Amino acid sequence: MNTVAETARSSIPPASGAKLDVQAVRCDFPILSRTLNGHPLVYLDNAASTQRPNPVIDAIGCLYRENYANIHRGVHALSQISTRLYEESREKVRAFLNASARQEIIFTRGTTESINLVAQSWGRANLSADDEIIISHMEHHSNIVPWQILCEQTGAKLHVLPITDHGTLVMEELDRMINARTRLISLVHVSNALGTINPVKAVIEKAHHLGIRVLIDGAQAVAHMPVDVEDLDCDFYCFSGHKIFGPTGIGVLYGKADILESMPPWQGGGDMISSVTFEKTTYNELPYRFEAGTPNIAGVVGLGTALDYVNRIGLESIMHYELELLSDFITKLKRVEGVRLVGSAPCRAGVVSFVFGEFHPHDVGTILDQEGIAVRTGHHCAQPVMDRFGLPATIRASISFYNTVEECDVLISGLTRVREYLGQD
Ligand code: ALA
Repeated sequence: MNTVAETARSSIPPASGAKLDVQAVRCDFPILSRTLNGHPLVYLDNAASTQRPNPVIDAIGCLYRENYANIHRGVHALSQISTRLYEESREKVRAFLNASARQEIIFTRGTTESINLVAQSWGRANLSADDEIIISHMEHHSNIVPWQILCEQTGAKLHVLPITDHGTLVMEELDRMINARTRLISLVHVSNALGTINPVKAVIEKAHHLGIRVLIDGAQAVAHMPVDVEDLDCDFYCFSGHKIFGPTGIGVLYGKADILESMPPWQGGGDMISSVTFEKTTYNELPYRFEAGTPNIAGVVGLGTALDYVNRIGLESIMHYELELLSDFITKLKRVEGVRLVGSAPCRAGVVSFVFGEFHPHDVGTILDQEGIAVRTGHHCAQPVMDRFGLPATIRASISFYNTVEECDVLISGLTRVREYLGQD
C-alpha cells in the first residue's frame, strides 16, 4: 500500500541549513516552467496564492487513487487509512506551529473562516455592549468584517490602531486605545498590502498584561518565517493552506486549549457531536467540536505534505533567501523613474506594493501580463489601507522562495515597456 510519504517526489534534499538552491526548488513546481502569452511565466502573485510542488500534487492524486474514504466513521480499512493520514497532518501542523497539543489545531476552510469562527463562537460568548475590539488600519477585509458583524450583533465597539506613512503601527497609540473594556486585539502578522511585519510579540505581551486576548492573522507570514505560537503566546493564530504551497479551501485555527474548551460550538452537524437526541445534544471533544461535517480530507493531507516540503527546505533558509531577493528587487525598483513604493517598513516580507507615475495599476498589470508577468493590481482586499494612502489601487509584486533575481529583473524591464506602450505619464 502506497502512503502519501512514499509517493512524494522532490529534488530537494532534507534541510541542512545550506543556502537555498533556487533552481532545484523550481524543478519541483511544474507550473513555473510554462509559458504565458508567449513568454516564460514570471509568477509574482504569491500573496494571493502560492503554487504547488510535485509532492503536494502527488499526495492529493495518491489519496484519491489509492487511499480515499470518509474519515472518523468507518470500521473498514480505507476509512482508517484516510483517518490516519488526516490526523497525521494535524500533528504536522501542530509541530509546524509548535503548539502544545493536537487538540489546539482546528481545520477550517482558510484564514477567513478561522477568524469568523473565533468571532462567532468566542466573540458572541464573551463580548457584550460597549466591550471593545482593537484591529489595525492595515488589516485585510477578513480581519475587519467578521468583527463588524460581531459588533452589530453584540453592541461592542471596533477601534482602529492607526499606521504611519511608512506602513507601520503607531504603537504609542495602542497604549492610549487600550482600556478596561478592551477584550480583544486582532492583528495581522504580515500585511498583504504593504509587506510590513508587525511586532506581534510585543503587542501580545502588552495585551496579556491587561488580560486582553489576541488573535494573529498569519496568512501572509507562515510561508516566509518560522512561527512559534508557544513563544508568541498568542491566544489564536490563523493561516491558509493555499498561501503555503498547499491546496485551496483548507486552513487552520490554532487556539489555546483552555480557551477553545470554553467556547461554544459554531457550526452544528456530523462529527462535532458526542450524542444527539431531540431532547439534548452533547458535543464532541476538541478539536472535532469545531469541525462539523465531512471535512476537506484531501486538503488536509495536501497541507500536511506542503508543510513537510517547507520543513525539508527549512524556513530559515527560505527567509534568508527571500530577504536578499526582496532587498535587491526594492533597490532596483526604486531606480525606475515614476515608481513610488507604498509602504517602507524596515521589517518586511514577501510583498512590494507600488504605483507607477499616473498609470492606472490595472493598465500596468494588463501590459505586464502580456509579457507573461503575473502581479496583482487593485485594493488587495484591504481598501482601508488604500484609503490611508489616498490611492484606489496599487501594483503588488509578491515573491516566494522559488522566484529569482532574473524574474524580478523581467518585471523591472516590463515597466519600461509599459511606459513605451502607455506613453509618458
Ligand atoms: N488575500 C489575498 C491577497 O492578498 C487574496 O491577494
